[in-house]
Amino acid sequence: MGRLEGKAALITGAARGIGSHFARAFIEEGAKVAIGDININDANLLADRLGENAIAIEMDVANQASIHNAIEQVTHQFKYIDILINNAAIFSAAPITEITRDDYKQVFDINVSGTLFTMQAVAAHMIENKRPGKIINMASQAGRRGEPLVATYCASKAAVISLTQSAGLNLIKHKINVNALSPGVVDGEHWDKVDELFAKYENKEIGQKKTEVGQMVPFGRMGKPEDLIGMAIFLATSEADYIVAQTYNVDGGQWMS
Ligand SMILES: NC(=O)c1ccc[n+]([C@@H]2O[C@H](COP(=O)([O-])OP(=O)(O)OC[C@H]3O[C@@H](n4cnc5c(N)ncnc54)[C@H](O)[C@@H]3O)[C@@H](O)[C@H]2O)c1
Repeated sequence: MGRLEGKAALITGAARGIGSHFARAFIEEGAKVAIGDININDANLLADRLGENAIAIEMDVANQASIHNAIEQVTHQFKYIDILINNAAIFSAAPITEITRDDYKQVFDINVSGTLFTMQAVAAHMIENKRPGKIINMASQAGRRGEPLVATYCASKAAVISLTQSAGLNLIKHKINVNALSPGVVDGEHWDKVDELFAKYENKEIGQKKTEVGQMVPFGRMGKPEDLIGMAIFLATSEADYIVAQTYNVDGGQWMS
């Protein structure tokens, strides 16, 4: 029997990348999974591939009405949401002197407001139905320490760590565990964009930054989405009932705290 048998999960930003690997792994553990993503085409393709226990939901986490509509659709299909993974996020890089308000706002609307208000709406659903739940927020090593070219993204992920602490403390009385997972550098389409931005701002060849960051990981390589699955599943099970408001580094040894 799977470790998530009978559970229903909403994973935001799961149409591709790390979230898509979580979706597959959660289904393999017996869960039903709603793939909530602004990219409904890719979400639909993935849901088709994953089979009858996956559904695709169009969702913009930066939009309040879209969050509520998505939760209504998920609860209509699955009745309850037991697990939320706040995974949707965007990356941005620029020197401080070139950051625009529009870019800052977009990063914070998705990475911070998206995490907070999706968490709020799913927690309200769990409380109303008097059901325990697990909420996992995707932080980042970028939230542990600023980086010269990555101010907005780093600040947004620091906010995710802080929100996880406050929400974790506030919601545990309802038996809702809020914790976060903090990856280091994980290869995939996300990092292709990161690599392009560093090529632009640090005068590097395409692919050079990726090679460099991989070499700097104590484990000896960049992470893969598969490296994060064990922690995500663990935090979603009752084995993690006594874990509250924590952020776990799963980063090959990059950060210690
Ligand atoms: N890849 C890494 O190196 C890395 C490192 C640390 C943390 N993380 C975090 O892990 C999570 C997943 O990263 P990834 O590498 O899979 O990213 P990704 O860019 O590959 O995937 C992000 C997904 O989010 C979706 N999305 C974007 N804006 C959205 C919105 N407004 N509403 C709903 N969905 C939206 C995209 O369509 C995409 O499917 C993110 O929170 C990211 O910050 C990634």
